[in-house]
Amino acid sequence: MLPRLLSRAAPTTARATPCNIRSFTAAAVARSAQQPTASGQAPAGSQTPVDGTAAEDSKTTHFGFRTVPESIKESLVSQVFGNVAKNYDLMNDVMSGGVHRLWKDHLIRTIAPGRDTSLLDVAGGTGDISFRFLENVRETYGTSAGASVRVVDINPAMLEVGRERAKALGYGGASNVTFEEGNAESLSAVPDASVDVYTIAFGIRNCTHVDAVIREAYRVLKPGGRFLCLEFGSVENPVIKSIYETYSFNVIPALGEFVANDRASYLYLVESIRKFPPQPEFAKMIRDAGFTQIGKGWEDLTFGVAAIHSGFKL
Ligand SMILES: C[S@@+](CC[C@H](N)C(=O)[O-])C[C@H]1O[C@@H](n2cnc3c(N)ncnc32)[C@H](O)[C@@H]1O
Repeated sequence: MLPRLLSRAAPTTARATPCNIRSFTAAAVARSAQQPTASGQAPAGSQTPVDGTAAEDSKTTHFGFRTVPESIKESLVSQVFGNVAKNYDLMNDVMSGGVHRLWKDHLIRTIAPGRDTSLLDVAGGTGDISFRFLENVRETYGTSAGASVRVVDINPAMLEVGRERAKALGYGGASNVTFEEGNAESLSAVPDASVDVYTIAFGIRNCTHVDAVIREAYRVLKPGGRFLCLEFGSVENPVIKSIYETYSFNVIPALGEFVANDRASYLYLVESIRKFPPQPEFAKMIRDAGFTQIGKGWEDLTFGVAAIHSGFKL
């Protein structure tokens, strides 16, 4: 409720800095000649694989509004975050006017961690969720020594920024704060039924197989453990939606170009949000993986610009 009241500002999260994503993708993916429409819909034909690689690889997926072979999406996403890592936190504030902080704080309040809660923060990037989690435990119990956070992310550059932040925040030598490389779709280093809380914030829409991510979350959670996913959502209110679409497709790419000299990566951000399933559909995926939900299974934030999805492993 709180973030809904606090702000009507537009979204934030992954966006980019100067990068050669365009040239990187050119070898494997031909970008649609058309730009997305202001309504956020993919232009006609943009879903068609257009290069030989895609034609040979029958399994395709989306990378923003582009259709790409599944086999290369991970590399494309990796390229984006490798380039955005250094400016990631600053740009989150620029893009969202700071609203992402309210959403993340609300996520932590929703978790309401206990003194000894173990958190697995997948696609945890620079540690934004994990540090908030530890801060909440410290404020509540006077110490965060009993709690633990394990940040897993596929991108070493994002993790490196996280490690630096950990040092700056005084968690540098702490054994209960770890950063490690891993793929959300296959958390092979994480044992079954080993964590109390699993979070994934603004990460799941970048994954190739969202269903595999949710299955892995279910596997690694202890019985009674909780899955929480903070992700962009679909806005239903037509007036807000129209403002949001204009902001998304005009302001965000322009900001990307102006601030980071990288329009393409910011366009990926906007497009990837539009390709992610709306809240009811994503909630069903969580339910289908075996999670038990309370009510409809999610809470809209800022008119549905973002949403917190939740499920218990019972
Ligand atoms: C928008 S950032 C979110 C970072 C952080 N959770 C936050 O809220 O600030 C998305 C993160 O997802 C990571 N990511 C993308 N695909 C992934 C995958 N398959 N497995 C693990 N991490 C992934 C990226 O490297 C990036 O750090």
